[in-house]
Amino acid sequence: MTMIKEGKKITNLKRIAVFTSGGDAPGMNAAIRGTVRAALYYGLEVYGVKRGYDGLINGKIKPMNSRSVSNIIHRGGTILKSARSSEFRTKEGRKKAYNNIKKLGIDALVAIGGDGTFTGASLFYEEYGIPTMGIPGTIDNDLAGTDFTIGYDTATNTAVEAIDKIRDTASSHNRLFFIEVMGRDSGFIAVRSAIAAGAEAIIVPEKYTGVDDLIERLEFGQKNKKTSSLVVVAEGSVEGGAFELAQQVKKRFDYETKVTILGHIQRGGTPTVADRVLAGRMGVAAVQGLLAGKIDSMVGIIHNQITYTPIAEALKMDREINESVWETAKILAT
Ligand code: F6P
Repeated sequence: MTMIKEGKKITNLKRIAVFTSGGDAPGMNAAIRGTVRAALYYGLEVYGVKRGYDGLINGKIKPMNSRSVSNIIHRGGTILKSARSSEFRTKEGRKKAYNNIKKLGIDALVAIGGDGTFTGASLFYEEYGIPTMGIPGTIDNDLAGTDFTIGYDTATNTAVEAIDKIRDTASSHNRLFFIEVMGRDSGFIAVRSAIAAGAEAIIVPEKYTGVDDLIERLEFGQKNKKTSSLVVVAEGSVEGGAFELAQQVKKRFDYETKVTILGHIQRGGTPTVADRVLAGRMGVAAVQGLLAGKIDSMVGIIHNQITYTPIAEALKMDREINESVWETAKILAT
């Protein structure tokens, strides 16, 4: 069992509620399971909220037991369902959510999601003082306070499996492929999957590459007798998405060019071992954190150690692409 050295017990913590919010991520079910089982292990009552903040507002809150989370460890998606709630962004919405929480005597929340989810949790804590523990669940890996977010490993494995298949066609037909992966504001999926799939170039929102530089790199490959190339593009890149970029490059570079958008296949599917273990550990640690008095915080795992970061800090800290990883990707692509 993880030892928690800091913080003091919330003496009146009896009943918690868990929910998933924002984009679903593979491993969310394993995190729900971890939270529920840990809560019961420590003698707490646990409720499940359907469709994230919308469920808090509409009172879709039901007790859960150990069997409620049987046979879900290997399943993608989220049994609690998820939503991006616009009503929770309003004062009236948050008031309704607070009333429902009070009515059921819920003392604390466990919120599984990404930055949007935690922004909501932070505001809610500020306004109503409901203790919340966040569990980072997003394929984007764009939260500070943890090395990895739940779903990132599965999503990158899914992307790599698809890119490997595209490579077969690229190489058989001497083509240049632009493959768009998810990441509205972040290039983590793009960088990791591009390295693993051996792509020639990566375009991400955090760094401006520009079309000139990209063409230079592709020409360099051609001179080095490369007959096909793969460019992995994060959807939120400044240079544009895969279609836009392909159009621009096509005008100036003589290569048969194709585009594949991977889209939501990256969000679904069976979670990898890494995501299941990460999610289980975080679920348990979330409950232990609340019991130890950590509130308005996000659980994380850094260098294999459980950590708790105040949500405001996790949101404030910019997660940048590691320079050495970026450089390595460039070297590997030559
Ligand atoms: O936050 C995860 C994510 O998959 C982003 O990478 C992507 O931009 C966004 O969600 C898409 O969201 P939605 O499924 O709501 O369109």
